[in-house]
Amino acid sequence: MQALDLLLNRSSQPRLQAPAPEGQALENIKQAALRAPDHACLTPWKFVVCQNLGLVRLGEIFQQAAIAANKSEKEVKRAPQLPLRAPMVMVAIAKYTENDKVPWIEQVASASCALHAMQMAAVAQGFAGVWRTGSFAKDPTVKQAFDLSEQDEIVGFLYLGSSPIKSLPKPKRESAEYFENWD
Ligand SMILES: Cc1cc2nc3c(=O)[nH]c(=O)nc-3n(C[C@H](O)[C@H](O)[C@H](O)COP(=O)(O)O)c2cc1C
Repeated sequence: MQALDLLLNRSSQPRLQAPAPEGQALENIKQAALRAPDHACLTPWKFVVCQNLGLVRLGEIFQQAAIAANKSEKEVKRAPQLPLRAPMVMVAIAKYTENDKVPWIEQVASASCALHAMQMAAVAQGFAGVWRTGSFAKDPTVKQAFDLSEQDEIVGFLYLGSSPIKSLPKPKRESAEYFENWD
C-alpha cells in the first residue's frame, strides 16, 4: 500500500477476527510504534500485547475494575467480554518521566502517536483495527494492574485482527473548515 493512500484512506474496523498479525508483520507493527516522534528520546512508552489467555486476563482486570467502581450488574458481566472482540489487543501506555523540557502532555502525545503508527502499520499489511479507550483506560484498578503510577496513562487499547469487510469510504472533510491560511 502506498503511504499516501494509507494516510488518506485509513479506516477503523470494530468487527475483527483471526488471524491477528504475527511474525514479521507483528514485528513491523512494533517497530512502527518505536519510530513515534519522541522529544528528547525519553521513549515514554510501554506496550502489552494481549492474545489468547492474555485477553482473558485483560477481561478479568476489566471485571475487577467494574466491580470496584460499583458498575451495574450488566456492565460487570460484560466487562470480561470486551477484549474478546478481537484476537489481539495492544495496550498502549505513556510512561511518564519528569523532564524539564518534555512535559506530561508531550509524553502522552508520543505514546498516542505510537498507537496510531501501530494501527497504520497493521492496515498497511492487510490487517484491521480500532483504537478504543472507554472508562477502563482511566480506571485506577486497571492502572494498578499494569503497575502504573498516577501520571502514567493508558492512551488506548488497540484492537487488532483481520476483517472480511472492506470499510466504506468516509465522506471527505473540507480542509478549509479546519485550516486557515496565514500568508
Ligand atoms: C483517543 C481515542 C479513543 C477512542 N476510544 C474509542 C472507544 O472507546 N470506542 C470506540 O468505539 N471508538 C473509540 N475511538 C474512535 C475510533 O478509534 C475511530 O477513530 C472511530 O470509530 C472513527 O473511525 P475511523 O478511524 O475509521 O474514522 C477512539 C479514538 C481515539 C482517538
